[in-house]
Amino acid sequence: MKTVQIIAEVRKTVSDARSGGAAVGFVPTMGALHEGHLSLIDAARSACDFVAVSIFVNPTQFAPGEDLATYPGGIEADLSACEARGADLVFVPDVETMYPRGAVTSVSVSGLSETLCGRSRPTHFAGVCTVVTKLLNIVRPDKAFFGRKDFQQLVIVTRMVEDLDIPVEIVSCPIVRHADGLAMSTRNQRLSAAVRLQAVALHAALESAVARIRQSHPPAAEVIASAREYLSTNAPDGEIDYIQIVDPQTLRDVETTDRIVLLALAVKFPGARLIDNMLVDSAGEGQ
Ligand code: PAJ
Repeated sequence: MKTVQIIAEVRKTVSDARSGGAAVGFVPTMGALHEGHLSLIDAARSACDFVAVSIFVNPTQFAPGEDLATYPGGIEADLSACEARGADLVFVPDVETMYPRGAVTSVSVSGLSETLCGRSRPTHFAGVCTVVTKLLNIVRPDKAFFGRKDFQQLVIVTRMVEDLDIPVEIVSCPIVRHADGLAMSTRNQRLSAAVRLQAVALHAALESAVARIRQSHPPAAEVIASAREYLSTNAPDGEIDYIQIVDPQTLRDVETTDRIVLLALAVKFPGARLIDNMLVDSAGEGQ
C-alpha cells in the first residue's frame, strides 16, 4: 500500500494502475476509521481492481463553531486499517495541498442541500461537494463508494456527478451498526457512557416508526409525533434537531407513508450531534 501526500503522485499511481487495465475504486473519508468506513473499502475491493482511499478532514464543510478543531484523528491506526482491508493507495493531503489559494471556488447543489441537515448546517454540503469534486478530479476513479449513513450526502453527490457530467459511478453502501443498533460514527467516541446508552434511542425510534408504517401506513405527521415522544422519553439529554419523513430522491417532506419513504433524524447530545436514517420501501421493509 502506498501513502501519498502529493496530488501529482496520486495521479501518476492511479494512471499507472489504469494503464494496466485496472478498474479504480475510491473511498473518500475524514479518517478516524471504523467498521462503517472499512465496509466501503471492502465494497470497493470486491468491485474494483485498484482501491484508493482518501483521509482528509475538510475544513470547508465545517462552519465556525462546529467541531473541526476537535475532530478525532489517529492516522497511524487508519493507515494500518486501510492496509489490512487491502487498499492500494491512501491519499493524505494537508489543507495547503487541497486549498493552496484559499477556497474561493465552490460547488453547490441547490434544493437538496437546504433540507434535513442543511437547515442547521447551511454551508456544509457546498463544502462536501467542493471537496468531493476535487478528490474525484484528482483520483479519477471508475466507482466511488459512499455510505447511506449520510443519506443526504449520497443523494447530493449522486446528483452533482450527474449534473456536472463527472465520469464516475456513485455506489451506495449500507449503514453499519453496533450490536445495539447505534449507527457507527466517528463522533460516537465523544459521548459519555450515560449518553451513549441514550443514543440507542435514535435507532429504536426509527425501528418503531418503520414498524408503524409497515403496519398501517399512518400519516407522516403521526409517525413523526410518536418518534419525537419516544426520543424525549428515552434520550432526555438529546435535543432533537429534526425528525423528517421525506421522498428519498427529492428529500422533500411527504404527508403519506404508503410509498417509498426515508425516515431521517438528527439529535444533538452533549459532545456530539448524531444522525441516522432508515429507508422504507413500497413493501414496507425497513433498511
Ligand atoms: P466521513 O464522515 O469520514 O465518512 C466517509 C464515508 O463513510 C461516507 O460515505 C459515510 O457515509 C461513510 N460512513 C460513515 N459511517 C458509516 C456507517 N456507520 N455505515 C456505513 N457507512 C458509513 O462523509 C465524509 O466523511 C465527508 O463528508 C467526505 C465525503 C469524506 C467529504 O469530506
